[in-house]
Amino acid sequence: MEVTPVLADSHGRVATDLRVSLTDRCNLRCSYCMPPEGLEWLPKPELLTDDEVGRLIRIGVELLGIREVRFTGGEPLLRRGLTRIVAAANALTPRPRTAVTTNGIGLGRVAPALAEAGLDRVNVSLDTLRPEVFERLARRRRLPDVLDGLAGAAAAGLTPVKVNAVLMRGVNDDEAPDLLRYCLERGYELRFIEQMPLDAQHGWRRENMVTADEILERLSAAFDLAPADAAERGSAPAELFLVDGGPARVGVIGSVTRPFCGACDRVRLTADGQIRNCLFAREESDLRAPLRDGASDEEIAQRWRAAVAAKLPGHGIDDPSFLQPSRPMSAIGG
Ligand code: 5AD
Ligand code: SF4
Repeated sequence: MEVTPVLADSHGRVATDLRVSLTDRCNLRCSYCMPPEGLEWLPKPELLTDDEVGRLIRIGVELLGIREVRFTGGEPLLRRGLTRIVAAANALTPRPRTAVTTNGIGLGRVAPALAEAGLDRVNVSLDTLRPEVFERLARRRRLPDVLDGLAGAAAAGLTPVKVNAVLMRGVNDDEAPDLLRYCLERGYELRFIEQMPLDAQHGWRRENMVTADEILERLSAAFDLAPADAAERGSAPAELFLVDGGPARVGVIGSVTRPFCGACDRVRLTADGQIRNCLFAREESDLRAPLRDGASDEEIAQRWRAAVAAKLPGHGIDDPSFLQPSRPMSAIGG
């Protein structure tokens, strides 16, 4: 195989954005993600240690052209070494941009330390502003903690704070304008994400998915939306709209109905050291075994290149032959 300093696939894409899942555990049980009883968590010895994660990120940045590192889960704030891992990533040359995708619980407390460690940004999930809906959706009474987390992130300078919302029919699909108003008032950047078939219970039904078109329709009832300059989008999955003439914006991520696989620049590392070249990949490439067997940086990099080279052109959710990945979102990283 040809040796390249980047992670290229056979469809002309280059992966520069690494999503690192630091744990498959979570303190919420969002119904689009996990069953109420939770899942069988990865046993500790299978998880990469902080140093192992740090080494793989270093290889990605130094040898493979990774420019952005996003920490995810499960819930990444549950990982004790998070701040240390973030600091190690930020000490690399060239320094990658760093971000954390979190449910926000406990973020108020750790945001200053994360900012100190050099973290650039956070993405916080917020699907509802109604405590009883939150309890139904996430099966925990933690809405005030999430809202505190958002405020804490903004206060610590982890800005612009980005907010992700998933709408579910009959649950929170009437809340789009309220969520946008809440975020606009606080300077948060809101993005709505179409629900994808990634839940462990395989409960996703196409007809229950609130589509990008519907989201835009609901928002348009309360706000004046105009497409923002498409040039700004790049490889970002969100289509951006100026709200009431701007400069405030809202994003809509049509993962299913408006797929952006052709511009995808992401690659994923699971908490147990597997490379996934797509959220919906059916196969993974193990980096943990070589890592623990004493492989050199270059050997690991070569495996990683091969894993990305095999990336398929798209997820094919709308294809009748689509099969959901065997691992749920919480074990892949968002
Ligand atoms: N479909 C769409 N988004 C999802 N998320 C989790 N599961 C799904 C799903 N099935 C979102 C979370 C979080 C981000 C990491 O992905 O709400 O904001
Ligand atoms: Fe936890 Fe995120 Fe899954 Fe909700 S979607 S249960 S916050 S991992």
